Amino acid sequence: MVALVGIDGSGKTTQAVRLAAALCAAGVTARYGRNAGGRRFLGRVARRFGREDAVSLLGRRGLLTIEAVLRWLAIARSLVSARLTGATAVMDRYTPCQLVSIRAHQGGNWLTRTVRAAYAPFPRPAVIIFLDVPPEVAYHRVEHRGEDHEDIEYLNASYAAYKDVLSDAVHVDGTGDPDAVARAVWAVVWPVVKRGLAVDAGLS
Ligand SMILES: Nc1ncnc2c1ncn2[C@@H]1O[C@H](COP(=O)(O)OP(=O)(O)OP(=O)(O)O)[C@@H](O)[C@H]1O
Ligand SMILES: [Mg+2]
Repeated sequence: MVALVGIDGSGKTTQAVRLAAALCAAGVTARYGRNAGGRRFLGRVARRFGREDAVSLLGRRGLLTIEAVLRWLAIARSLVSARLTGATAVMDRYTPCQLVSIRAHQGGNWLTRTVRAAYAPFPRPAVIIFLDVPPEVAYHRVEHRGEDHEDIEYLNASYAAYKDVLSDAVHVDGTGDPDAVARAVWAVVWPVVKRGLAVDAGLS
């Protein structure tokens, strides 16, 4: 399993989709897993109910709790479908993202402990890639995407939280153009995947 994590707008979805396709092109069965927590969807639901955003509908802790449950289900589904097909899972977000969300939204210690326990059974990826993009760059990307909006304060808090939460991630500079970032991601992932294939084949 390979996981891509990083702040909103850092390019996780762009790179995870490309990585899964590149692995398949290299002859490795790979499955893209979108492990969303439903924040964007819940924001749309809230606006339907005449609220400004999902927090005003569900409350800060309510939204974090629902997000944690939805992400747990999404990760479980991604893992099961990769396992059933014998594929390498390419995860667009993974467990650290939920801990970062709780920290950046000041969800408190109880929620952090509960989520840590609930997410503990999920396996460690062979490699976690942190797409390193400064919050100001990510902010402009999200604005340009035009599907949602992120406060720069939240992106700053999220960036700081990733630095705290991640201990064993490989940092990849995500500021280049998508092709350059894809090459940098590939340079990290391919040796790990090749090693895994050799182990599977009993060659090492
Ligand atoms: N390397 C890049 N350079 C410039 N723009 C990029 C790059 N990578 C992605 N983008 C664009 O930036 C926007 C955000 O990218 P993307 O949706 O992949 O980020 P994300 O990390 O998945 O965001 P989110 O956390 O909100 O899902 C998209 O409009 C995408 O086309
Ligand atoms: Mg995305």
